[in-house]
Amino acid sequence: MSAHLPWRQGRGGSAGSLPDPRVPEAWESPTGETAPWDTWRTHRALQQPTYPDPHALSEVTADLRRRPPLVFAGEVDDLRADLGAAGRGEAFVLMGGDCAETFAESTADHLRLKIQTLLQMAVVLTYGASLPVVKIGRIAGQYAKPRSADVETRDGVTLPVYRGDAVNSFAFTKESRIPDPHRLMEMYQHSASSLNLIRAFTKGGYADLRLVHHWNRGFTQNPAYSRYESLAEEIHRAVKFMEAAGADFDSLREVDLYSAHEALLLEYESAMTRIDSRTGRPYDTSGHLLWIGERTRQLDGAHVELLSRVLNPIGVKLGPTTTPEDVIALIDRLNPEGEPGRLTFITRMGASRIRQALPRLLEAAKADGRPVTWTTDPMHGNTITSSTGYKTRDFATIMDEVSGFFEAHAEVGTIPGGIHIELTGDDVTEVMGGSEQIDEAGLERRYETLVDPRLNHQQSLEMAFQVAGLLR
Ligand code: PEP
Ligand code: CO
Repeated sequence: MSAHLPWRQGRGGSAGSLPDPRVPEAWESPTGETAPWDTWRTHRALQQPTYPDPHALSEVTADLRRRPPLVFAGEVDDLRADLGAAGRGEAFVLMGGDCAETFAESTADHLRLKIQTLLQMAVVLTYGASLPVVKIGRIAGQYAKPRSADVETRDGVTLPVYRGDAVNSFAFTKESRIPDPHRLMEMYQHSASSLNLIRAFTKGGYADLRLVHHWNRGFTQNPAYSRYESLAEEIHRAVKFMEAAGADFDSLREVDLYSAHEALLLEYESAMTRIDSRTGRPYDTSGHLLWIGERTRQLDGAHVELLSRVLNPIGVKLGPTTTPEDVIALIDRLNPEGEPGRLTFITRMGASRIRQALPRLLEAAKADGRPVTWTTDPMHGNTITSSTGYKTRDFATIMDEVSGFFEAHAEVGTIPGGIHIELTGDDVTEVMGGSEQIDEAGLERRYETLVDPRLNHQQSLEMAFQVAGLLR
């Protein structure tokens, strides 16, 4: 057994004087049977790459099976409990990060700015909601993308589509677009180094409430954002009060920032699944929360099958065509026992449809009674193309979907549990609007995303201040 991991003990503690490190172990079967979660192989798997060399793929997955887990069972259990609290209205979820992380941008600087953005948003939301904020990054694993078309055509040349750095390369050449299984190992390595940095930043003083609050003051002191100054001033007074009252700021120097990604590539996710040393149950150790995308949530599909077998908290994206029957069937498949925090629905209806489409889904789950944590993704139902040809979104439309989400929950009497957004800590110009008033012409200034447009650092903070207003 390896040494106790100093950065985390499962909050539940463990029996006896020696803590159980709960390092999940690889599946080993002396009689050679397949792992209990390998049942997905007999189900239809959409959005999977076709590797030209299946032998190379099995070599890589065999190697991955021997690698240490990226996250630990105790951490995953903690997140499940936190998400359960959010489902009851005792916490609020902030989930955010890139649409598609890239290997080239998993650098210390990019990660630091993204983490900083999430932490700054979390302080504002904590104040607005008067609740703990469950912080989850689309970070350290978000390297694979579902696509609407299998091919892409440019100037009369048609090539396989880019499916994320975990699969192929963005460059528009025949060679780069061939799926390469060695990229799965690169995904593992980039995830590991990113998680290492997250753990260092969030446990090493960088997340100190006073520091994060200082950054937020810098933001609202910019005249462009003066409309948020009074809320920032209130937060400032609250921090001052805590200081004067002798609050234990040392305990506010560390935060939990969990890692999540879309569990798209089934070979990778099943190779990263391990048996928890304490309970003997399987955990997908590629990330704390795994979600199933709108395109792969078929009830009899391979994605639902694999994730029904692991103990991680699971997210499922729900688009505007989702029926109340789908909601109940997904609960039956993914959370039959009704365990709090196990299932989070991430609705992405589009601002024009949410008020009509969401309430009946909320009614259905409410009548069913098994707990669900509801969050809103106001990004993916609101993607448009600018007249200049950029894939973009409008800040006001995004906020309109968030408002619609709160209205729908108020109407039905259910809990709006959190937000799921695409953001970056960098000063890009990909989403229109916000107080900086990025317009169509402004998009070309710094448009860098390889897939979907992200809120930049300032737009993310504006969103946090506006959502805080809705939460009060
Ligand atoms: C995403 O979150 O980047 C995504 C592809 O979402 P959806 O499955 O909701 O389309
Ligand atoms: Co996206």
